[in-house]
Amino acid sequence: MTPLTLAQKAALLAGGGFWNTLAYPEADIGSIILADGPHGLRRPIRGGDELGLADSVPATCFPPSAGVASSFNPALLERLGRAVGEEARANSVGLILGPGVNIKRSPLCGRNFEYYSEDPLVSGELGAAWVRGLQSTGVGASAKHFAGNNQETNRMTVSAQIDERTLREIYLPAFETIVTREQPWAVTCSYNKVNGTFSSENHWLLTTVLREEWGFDGAVVSDWGAVDDRVKALAAGTDLEMPGPQDGSERDIVSAVRAGEISELDVDRSVARIKTLVSRSNAKATPYDETEHHELAYEAALESVVLLRNENDLLPLSTDQSIAVIGAFAQHPRLQGSGSSQVIPTRVDSVLESLSVRATVGFAPGYSFGLSDDTGLRAEAVELAASHDVAVVFVGLPDADETEGQDREHIELPPSHVALIAAVAKVNPKTVVVLTNGGVVSLEPWHDSVPAILEAWLLGQAGGSAVADILLGAVNPSGHLAETIPKRLSDTPSFLNFPGDRDSVRYGEGMFVGYRYYETVDVAPRYPFGHGLSYTTFEWTDFGITRDGRVATVTVTNTGDRAGADVVQLYVGGSRKAVRSPLRELRAFRKVWLEPGESTTVTLGLTWRSFAYWDIATSRWQVTAGQYGIEFGRSSHDIAGSVKVTMQGTGEPKPLDFDSPVSDWLDNPVSGPVIRRILAANSDANDGGASVIDRVSAMPMLRLMRLPGVTMSETQLTRLLKLANNNVVEKFAGMFSRN
Ligand code: BGC
Repeated sequence: MTPLTLAQKAALLAGGGFWNTLAYPEADIGSIILADGPHGLRRPIRGGDELGLADSVPATCFPPSAGVASSFNPALLERLGRAVGEEARANSVGLILGPGVNIKRSPLCGRNFEYYSEDPLVSGELGAAWVRGLQSTGVGASAKHFAGNNQETNRMTVSAQIDERTLREIYLPAFETIVTREQPWAVTCSYNKVNGTFSSENHWLLTTVLREEWGFDGAVVSDWGAVDDRVKALAAGTDLEMPGPQDGSERDIVSAVRAGEISELDVDRSVARIKTLVSRSNAKATPYDETEHHELAYEAALESVVLLRNENDLLPLSTDQSIAVIGAFAQHPRLQGSGSSQVIPTRVDSVLESLSVRATVGFAPGYSFGLSDDTGLRAEAVELAASHDVAVVFVGLPDADETEGQDREHIELPPSHVALIAAVAKVNPKTVVVLTNGGVVSLEPWHDSVPAILEAWLLGQAGGSAVADILLGAVNPSGHLAETIPKRLSDTPSFLNFPGDRDSVRYGEGMFVGYRYYETVDVAPRYPFGHGLSYTTFEWTDFGITRDGRVATVTVTNTGDRAGADVVQLYVGGSRKAVRSPLRELRAFRKVWLEPGESTTVTLGLTWRSFAYWDIATSRWQVTAGQYGIEFGRSSHDIAGSVKVTMQGTGEPKPLDFDSPVSDWLDNPVSGPVIRRILAANSDANDGGASVIDRVSAMPMLRLMRLPGVTMSETQLTRLLKLANNNVVEKFAGMFSRN
């Protein structure tokens, strides 16, 4: 085997083409094909345009992530990952560019249809399950877009300004879960900067956190064109620049090594990672069963649909009723969003056809997809609605509203769709609205005028038959919102800071994203995170938590007359005095299927991290000692029951200095009692110093000590500081072990 020259190694650090790594057969280095996902395979057909947007091999179009996230069902995601892996293998693809686990910071983000949730636990659990399924087929995952890629506006230039606690608690955990649990073969670094440094050049992100803290052993792949300075990117930990070839990068790397700016070892390290990536791939072309995958796409679509509203049990419809099917989407469904994830489906189910074969159905398009005046189409639809028992109106966002590369400017439905709903609801009180959208849309001002609403997202190629089966009650809906539906765009927490300007976007809402904000500030959304109705009813009883706070239990009973699935959401709340925190945060969830009358005990596991916050003073996770509420929610707002648990804290005091606030000195087990005594002695009130503490707790310590009458010298304070900082109490350190 011929050893590689420096130039050859440098060339290997970029793709050999748009969709493959470079091969050196003489050195026994093969190449793998990379392709987009994750809701289906997008392998560009050779000879198509380079980006491959025009044409790719037919593949099963599963529901995009915004839909399947509503399933709250990791087992389903695992099966989806496996199916995509089988299709990748059949097409000799070795690495899938997905899943996308960026947090839905704003409903305006143009790629929200590709992301799971506003909540990091949901994103992480579902993403990890998908990766597990995919990688079980011998095809690798590249989790993306790492990190802080929560908007499309200026995605290649903007710096996401995110404080560390917010990064650690909101924007990084989904990646952390996937990396620590599933060891994805790759991670895709994002286009944007994080706190001033391009992700591709961000050593803290790609090396300190990803590799050193989380133990990532795969390859970092750049997003397509995300590398600005190849040498800096290499030094930070970007192994593979895509697409390739990149002659300029190759030259830059060679001269940087020659000039001693980077060492050849840096090059060798990335070469080794790319070789490992290539050798891991087992992409032997094996055929897959198209029909089976279509059925899985159908199942996934069923679990994606969320029944938002169902007054007087209008749904399910009976086949005895005549149904006016209204809306061009019923005939021409939107399966997915636009951009790099777009799949060419193997077939497409139509909801109109599925309904027509089982019930008496009339159809009117109601609106056109063009810019024409829809008055005539609307009048025709109204006539149809008036002459049928029920009207089902399919409305939603047009293709152009949801595409990679741009954000939305509003969350409204097209005016002609809103007008159509109003006109139909006026003539037929039994009107059902079925929504087609990847990012959430406003349900105002028409919400109250219709008795039933189905959030049908973008459902992939089998969505049509799935929606028909839910409307007719052949299947009971079980989806729950993984994203809050606000009443107004201006209610959303990032409203004032989205999308920033060309250079920077400040994540001013901090960790108060989605329900964390609405619940904490008590702003009512239209539908809270986690909401979802069923055709049956469930009763929850016997709420419990073990004394160590590790295992929560609740008994769920199906009290209705249909089989159905319920989702138990476990939130942890509590007054974390040390730092401001959301009112409650989702820490576990479980979906259960129950026959009528059936009961089951649902067990949900918690870990020490479920109680922890990222402490910026000590740069680590800390648990504040005290009482926490363990809340069993049907949504983030509808808490069916709660129990309390007392946790002993991690007990690691913050390092003190003279400028630390008095409150930190009081929290410290060594200095706390001393300071408390001094303050009590200085208090007029007979309250042990409580009123003084209130007034001075935010003061820097040294300033307090300089106040006349305080009886402690700087020498004494210096001594106390030393004692406090060296005498770290280990008592509680072993209390929580990682698992
Ligand atoms: C997108 C990625 C995608 C890549 C390859 C980029 O523009 O951001 O999500 O995987 O293109 O198509």
